[in-house]
Amino acid sequence: MKDAAPQTIYLRDYTPFGFVVEEVHLTFRLAPTSTRVLSRIKFAPNPEATDKTFFLHGEDLILKSSKIDGKKVTPTVTPEGLTCAVPDKPFVWESEVEISPQTNTALEGLYMSNGMYCTQCEAEGFRKITYYPDRPDVMSVFTVRVEGPHPVLLSNGNPKDSGDGWAEWRDPWPKPSYLFALVAGDLVNFPGEFTTCSGKDVELNIWARPGDEGKCAFGMEALKKSMKWDEEVYGREYDLDIFNIVAVDDFNMGAMENKGLNVFNSSAVLASPETSTDMNFERIEAIIAHEYFHNWTGNRITCRDWFQLCLKEGLTVFRDSQFTSDMRSAPVKRISDVIDLRGRQFPEDQGPLSHPVRPESFQEINNFYTATVYEKGAEVIGMLKRLVGDEDYAEALELYFARHDGQACTIEDWLKVFEDVTGRDLTQFKRWYSQSGTPRLSVSEAYADGTYTLTFKQHTPPSPDQAEKLPQVLPIAVGLLNPNGDEVVKTTLLEMTEAEQSFEFRDLASKPVPSLLRGFSAPVVLERAASRDEQVFLLAHDTDAFNRWEAGRNLARASLIAMVRDGAAPDQAYLDGLAALLRDDDLDPAFRALMLSLPSQSELAQALYEVGVTPDPDQIWQAKETMADTMARTFRDLLPKLAFEGKVTEPYEPSAEQSGKRSLGAAALALQTRLDGGEAAQKQFDKADNMTLQLSALSQLIQAGKDAKAVQSFHDQWKDDRLVMDKWFGLQVGAAHPAQAVDRAKALTEHPAFDMKNPNRFRAVFGALAMNHAGFHRKDGAGYDLLADWLIKLDAKNPQTTARMCSAFQTWRRYDADRQSLMKAALERIAAQPSLSRDTTEMVSRILG
Ligand code: PHE
Ligand code: ZN
Repeated sequence: MKDAAPQTIYLRDYTPFGFVVEEVHLTFRLAPTSTRVLSRIKFAPNPEATDKTFFLHGEDLILKSSKIDGKKVTPTVTPEGLTCAVPDKPFVWESEVEISPQTNTALEGLYMSNGMYCTQCEAEGFRKITYYPDRPDVMSVFTVRVEGPHPVLLSNGNPKDSGDGWAEWRDPWPKPSYLFALVAGDLVNFPGEFTTCSGKDVELNIWARPGDEGKCAFGMEALKKSMKWDEEVYGREYDLDIFNIVAVDDFNMGAMENKGLNVFNSSAVLASPETSTDMNFERIEAIIAHEYFHNWTGNRITCRDWFQLCLKEGLTVFRDSQFTSDMRSAPVKRISDVIDLRGRQFPEDQGPLSHPVRPESFQEINNFYTATVYEKGAEVIGMLKRLVGDEDYAEALELYFARHDGQACTIEDWLKVFEDVTGRDLTQFKRWYSQSGTPRLSVSEAYADGTYTLTFKQHTPPSPDQAEKLPQVLPIAVGLLNPNGDEVVKTTLLEMTEAEQSFEFRDLASKPVPSLLRGFSAPVVLERAASRDEQVFLLAHDTDAFNRWEAGRNLARASLIAMVRDGAAPDQAYLDGLAALLRDDDLDPAFRALMLSLPSQSELAQALYEVGVTPDPDQIWQAKETMADTMARTFRDLLPKLAFEGKVTEPYEPSAEQSGKRSLGAAALALQTRLDGGEAAQKQFDKADNMTLQLSALSQLIQAGKDAKAVQSFHDQWKDDRLVMDKWFGLQVGAAHPAQAVDRAKALTEHPAFDMKNPNRFRAVFGALAMNHAGFHRKDGAGYDLLADWLIKLDAKNPQTTARMCSAFQTWRRYDADRQSLMKAALERIAAQPSLSRDTTEMVSRILG
């Protein structure tokens, strides 16, 4: 239970810990409700620190004994930790504590999941295991002994010794406590091997519950590819004899990069063609890469404090996106990333939760594992790379690894290597780390005597956390096309630093059409009153794949806005332009599938809000329905061709090529279902021999309201597979008609397989409800009430997941007065709960503002 007044922690208050830790020895005697943890820790005074208070973090621990240099001591214990008088020279601290993994439903610290022991220590979970300076700048080598009647006993580093009922591990690399991990249980391994570039053999394992071994092969291949890629592209070699991955069913996040012992949400590692979709496979490949890449960007070089979280996360997301681009299609990856950025990061950065990529204060650090820190953090690195160029980027990274290996670093350290390598002054660029909000970029053009001038203006609206914004460095990639579609100026990088700035292009024979912000070269909102004709032209001719997609997206968004605001009909020019693309079978099927997708309802709500129209979720939903119906009728004759191109005749493979085809097939099926009422979808459902086809068919049947039989048979087929059942729960809410989404969610919470303690299952239902825009925003507030009821229930068990899911309410101020007051009431009801967690308290109060 959390304390009365939540404390705010500030970046500016950083001071080093008064002691260094020279060695850590831990012994675990595992028992479900009474695990004993014995620690023996060598401390020495830290010459660099002025504050010599000996404070060790500790929460929910029962202290059984403590000693200094072998003599019993009696520390002062509070709910947050302990203090003790210590000698002014190196000393050995010993303690024994008792903890109860079985009853740990927060899934932080040591807990149990389906009979398996596992840990989650990032960010501040280690303090729930033993008394320790639980902060990332305290690094040490760990030796761990695990005792328990389990066939598999794992910890970080290399295996040292083992016997019946015990195992010892030693991690030679100094690490902060948040990278500690322990796993014990009845597990089976899927083995593999990797020989590093210097010829060292590394043993690889993916550990899973018996029965899941058949779902590990893909993850193992992804791991090997990641190891190879990091050697080839970043020159990073693995540094232990063994690398273990464990699949855990109950996990708050996707996965965790513990040194040599990554722990994964089973949804982020286990896969088979029958049970996983193409999208699942791609996500798994990316997450395995992400966690593996952390070994260098996060573990060997870690963060000085949690304000620097983007140092490891932004960089590692950037690295995993490079990896995916190399393994699959770069333009498709870029488009997907931008869709994701606009869907998750933009609403965050443009609402009450707005915060800089490097926040300056927090109450609960768990609330800052955000799209801003991760995804905008990665965008910032992408911009830096564009600005300095590929070669200097590579050199700067080399210097970063050489200079900072073994250290706990800051964003200042990171930027300094770039300054040292390039001679640039990055003072202004640093605003990307300190300034919150999404910059808005407007542009005007002029043409005279062969000279074409682009004038840009940038402006970032004030955010709740920062009233005043300064101009940022914007890398704007621009290409120019002449009226017959030829590229007359190839992609050129303009470097904008002023609030307003002009750029000239000379010696042009005619007024060109600009293709702006190619590849989405900066995470901004481009406000451009580009004519519809120009967008149609770019849709047909742009040589930059991203911007070609973007032109279609702009046309779709403009048309949908006009439909909602003015009751206009769908834009025929957009549909014609799209038809031409769909016919072009030289274009990647995955790209054409993306062209067919429409902006999300939430993105449209934001767009309407920005043009001064209060978004009505029902109208937005209706406009998208009308648009999709019109597309189906307009493309009627094209659908058989698309369905044919979307068919894969070879045996299933989760490759980019096959999955691209299937996504085109799915897009065609969605339109076909609007014409045949679900006939084709039912056929596909009945015949499907992989989850991608089965699930896309089921989704269409649900949307068409023809799902009763299919939902039942899917359930009967998959009732014993937890990960597939998550899809079953989620889809029924996510794909439901808005009028039914809340009732379906409510009914599903009464299903015997609904388990609120399992974050995947809880998110399946309530994440899907929050994503069903018009369903969640039902006029009578039933969606808000249902979510609030369940968040209140979950908070008592799992604060971290509860707090994250509060963000469903973050856009509340955009809607009409009735909805606003309903959402506000729901938020206030959550806030009024006695003993609400620190996590949820902070989120709700920030959202309410
Ligand atoms: N560090 C993890 C990652 O990004 C995410 C995570 C954070 C997992 C906190 C669990 C808890 O890979
Ligand atoms: Zn990460």
